[in-house]
Amino acid sequence: MDSVRSTLPKFFKAVQIDGFGGIEAMHYRDVSFVRPAPDQIVVRIAAAGVGPWDAWIRAGNSVLPQPLPLTLGSDIAGTVVLVGDGVKGLFSGDEIFGVTNPRFTDGYAEYAIANAGMVARKPTALSFEEAASVPVIAVTAWQMLFEQAHVKKGDRVLVLGGAGSVGAFAVQLAHRAGAYVLAGASRRDTDFVMSLGADQAMDPREQTFAKFRHSIDVVVDLVGGETLDRSFETVKPGGRVVSAVAEPNAERAATAKISANFMLVAVTTSTLLALSELLEIGALRTRVGELLPLSQAQLAHEMLEGRKHAPGKIVLVP
Ligand SMILES: NC(=O)c1ccc[n+]([C@@H]2O[C@H](COP(=O)([O-])OP(=O)(O)OC[C@H]3O[C@@H](n4cnc5c(N)ncnc54)[C@H](OP(=O)(O)O)[C@@H]3O)[C@@H](O)[C@H]2O)c1
Repeated sequence: MDSVRSTLPKFFKAVQIDGFGGIEAMHYRDVSFVRPAPDQIVVRIAAAGVGPWDAWIRAGNSVLPQPLPLTLGSDIAGTVVLVGDGVKGLFSGDEIFGVTNPRFTDGYAEYAIANAGMVARKPTALSFEEAASVPVIAVTAWQMLFEQAHVKKGDRVLVLGGAGSVGAFAVQLAHRAGAYVLAGASRRDTDFVMSLGADQAMDPREQTFAKFRHSIDVVVDLVGGETLDRSFETVKPGGRVVSAVAEPNAERAATAKISANFMLVAVTTSTLLALSELLEIGALRTRVGELLPLSQAQLAHEMLEGRKHAPGKIVLVP
């Protein structure tokens, strides 16, 4: 390990925070290398994805403990440059994609340490930028549909936030599983969600759910708030609501005789490999919106917080 280590720079650039706060809390600066622990790898980052949860962590709203200072970011694609003890099946020079660690930190950097069990070989059909846009959002969609809600052929699935990053994967995966997919999306995104395989689209900000009362087997919620609350009426007794945003109201769920729960994604090599197979053959597609230099991570967070940007995932390039 040490001969490779000596070829690596002593310092590399990363985007860190010393305290939780606004966008001004982010600092682009030099940090020094740390030796990977057993079962970890060091990756030279080619691209790092930006997601809404990065802003939650920056602001101090993560549900997970986040020791400071920390480097923001978790979605990565790049090349393995160092392999820790005990890592099997990954070697220096391998091109990988995945997530850094279960706290969703350390990705906005030129180099990152990642848990070997949270990455997989990058699909060859995808660029690094495309690959970095995939891990958290696609694995979230997969786990909501198949591990939480057990969606199967013939189910009727409502995806709230169907045109968003997670939603776009949920619509595609539910469609591929043979479900009838109703996408909740703004009117301007109707063509987009239909192109992903939605059978029908509706805008929950413009329409009530009355027309869909007791017609849905599974609600995949990526919006939360009153949209999540209102969606309960669509679900058949015995149906399921899974939210990636908020803990659904247990009392209302019991009254409606449905199951409802919050889920936190757990990125694993095996789920990434399952997604990779579909990405490799073009059966799943990802949408990169803005490509920005790593030094402009603050601009990326302004976009997360409403600044105008191209639709699709924001990706940082060191
Ligand atoms: N629990 C987990 O493990 C986990 C993992 C990943 C993501 N998440 C969370 O899941 C959520 C979605 O993530 P994402 O990356 O897909 O975000 P995103 O790309 O911003 O997508 C959110 C979607 O929700 C729509 N939306 C927002 N407010 C709405 C409302 N009031 N009514 C209807 N639609 C509305 C947006 O539509 P417009 O563009 O038309 O506003 C957008 O299409 C975020 O809160 C994220 O933090 C959780």
